[in-house]
Amino acid sequence: MRIMLAPMEGVVDHTMRTMLTAVGGIDRCVTEFVRVTTARLPTRTFYRYCPELHNDGLTPSGVPVYIQLLGGQPEPMAINAERAAALGAPGIDINFGCPAKQVNRSDGGSVLLKEPDRVYKIIDAVRKAVPDEIPVTAKIRLGFEDRSLLGDVSQAVFAANASELTIHARTKEDGYKPPAYWDAIADINANSPIPIIANGEIWSVKDYHQCIKESSCADIMLGRGILACPDLARQINAEQLQQNTTVMQWPDIVELLAQFCVVTEEEYEPKYVGNRVKQWLGYLRRQYPMAEVLFEEVKRLKWPEEIAEGIDRHKTPVIPT
Ligand SMILES: Cc1cc2nc3c(=O)[nH]c(=O)nc-3n(C[C@H](O)[C@H](O)[C@H](O)COP(=O)(O)O)c2cc1C
Repeated sequence: MRIMLAPMEGVVDHTMRTMLTAVGGIDRCVTEFVRVTTARLPTRTFYRYCPELHNDGLTPSGVPVYIQLLGGQPEPMAINAERAAALGAPGIDINFGCPAKQVNRSDGGSVLLKEPDRVYKIIDAVRKAVPDEIPVTAKIRLGFEDRSLLGDVSQAVFAANASELTIHARTKEDGYKPPAYWDAIADINANSPIPIIANGEIWSVKDYHQCIKESSCADIMLGRGILACPDLARQINAEQLQQNTTVMQWPDIVELLAQFCVVTEEEYEPKYVGNRVKQWLGYLRRQYPMAEVLFEEVKRLKWPEEIAEGIDRHKTPVIPT
């Protein structure tokens, strides 16, 4: 059983990967998508999306980070995948799931699910451009408008020799609306020569059990669920291994947020730090009622020091003995 951290554009950057992999239970991460058009991208682009390349492609906790490419043309995708691999990416992930209109209009993401043959050509070109020992993985949705091409798209992924396939159990039309149709993954998994990773709407250990039961997959990918509950992967692992684990309480989350402030401040201009903290609080408030309280307290604050003070006020006072 493995747990992957989902790629999330604008949310799961290397600072978030650092925080969440430090909490534990995550086996693999993916960068935000690197948009590939026709050009050979400069080396600095890969380092910007994946600063972990300076650390053998690992987060500070030692979790590998695959570089995610998004584009519709096999040749440029192959050239840039080759470069990412040469820079030390532990794997290449190809995005066939992004629903954004802007991305789809410019020939990338979920719109490619309408053309299984192109899915094949893109993965095949990337696979051939990258050394054999570097995995090439793909991430899809159940389809674009409907699921009618799911079988053909999956066959294309297998025929192109992808190493693994992640399926977000919704179509592009479904967007992010619950439910996720985990059972639709089961048919693909039953006849798959490669590991299938189930994704979508796993918010709790209970959801995890339901997902693996319905999808019959061993591996899962967590997105919004682990942002809301940062130790979700650790809890799932502990349960699988029948180990004890302490579930994070609000004071632990406050510590995590304080560290996030520091890590973010090192990387972003001051005016962006607050927004990133508020964004995470937006997810955390689903799980922790106190996150809603803190969000209300900091939502009009702008500067990192003010936000950090707001977080500090939630720290448990140390009682002198
Ligand atoms: C803000 C946001 C950004 C996302 N960015 C990407 C992306 O860059 N690439 C990708 O393949 N999926 C992306 N996704 C989809 C997630 O990886 C995941 O498939 C989806 O959120 C369902 O999983 P969840 O219910 O666990 O969040 C994004 C989702 C969200 C909410």
